Amino acid sequence: MDEFDIVAGAITSRRSVRGFLPDPVSVELISKILATASYAPSGSNIQPWNVHVVMGPKRDELSRLLLDAHRQKLPEAREYEYYPVQWRSPYIERRRATGWGLYETLGIQKGDRQASAAQHGRNYAFFGAPVVLVFAIDKDLRQGSWLDYGMFLQNIMVSARGCGLHTCPQAAIANYPGIVKRLLGIGDDQTVICAISMGYEDSSCPANQFRPPRIDLDEFVVFHS
Ligand SMILES: Cc1cc2nc3c(=O)[nH]c(=O)nc-3n(C[C@H](O)[C@H](O)[C@H](O)COP(=O)(O)O)c2cc1C
Repeated sequence: MDEFDIVAGAITSRRSVRGFLPDPVSVELISKILATASYAPSGSNIQPWNVHVVMGPKRDELSRLLLDAHRQKLPEAREYEYYPVQWRSPYIERRRATGWGLYETLGIQKGDRQASAAQHGRNYAFFGAPVVLVFAIDKDLRQGSWLDYGMFLQNIMVSARGCGLHTCPQAAIANYPGIVKRLLGIGDDQTVICAISMGYEDSSCPANQFRPPRIDLDEFVVFHS
């Protein structure tokens, strides 16, 4: 295997896993992954990341609180908008294809709101993952630092692959910033960006058979010479 194959293999083997085994992950392994990920570049090397590693009873408590809020449809103000207010082409088609693709894999019919809500609720059970990483950023940092943060998050997910682990990035947690902040002691001077569920894949879970496609190069690249 040449160097490109090794790097590309690590990148393309990362996918969002939505069914994990309960097998624990050691603090040593998590620390190794986070230390490696921290080699992400950041503008002026300011390293804007703050990570909360949530496991064991704390993870269960976080899950219980979030599931309660989800089931009772408790309203909470989001701290940032992940998506456009007005969906439009070509994004809306890609979004629908991904959502319906997953539901089709799971046998959920279009319009079955109850089954869709239950699947969405799996976010708050962290898809069974034993480790939840919660990411916060200081509110006074600007868009550039969010750019840096994305690189750090990707490094975590790719490094995890190197340890035989899988991940699922989850913005769903940002629907309930108040619950997350209160439980983890995150101040109001920070925004909860997202979480990453991490653990060993349950390969018998149907959701893990789903592989969303990617658009072709000619749809997003212009070569100039
Ligand atoms: C920042 C971020 C937040 C995401 N939030 C969620 C989420 O809350 N729940 C979920 O099931 N997937 C979530 N995803 C996963 C995307 O749906 C997924 O990355 C996309 O469909 C491509 O699939 P792949 O990751 O398997 O390649 C998120 C992805 C990113 C990058």
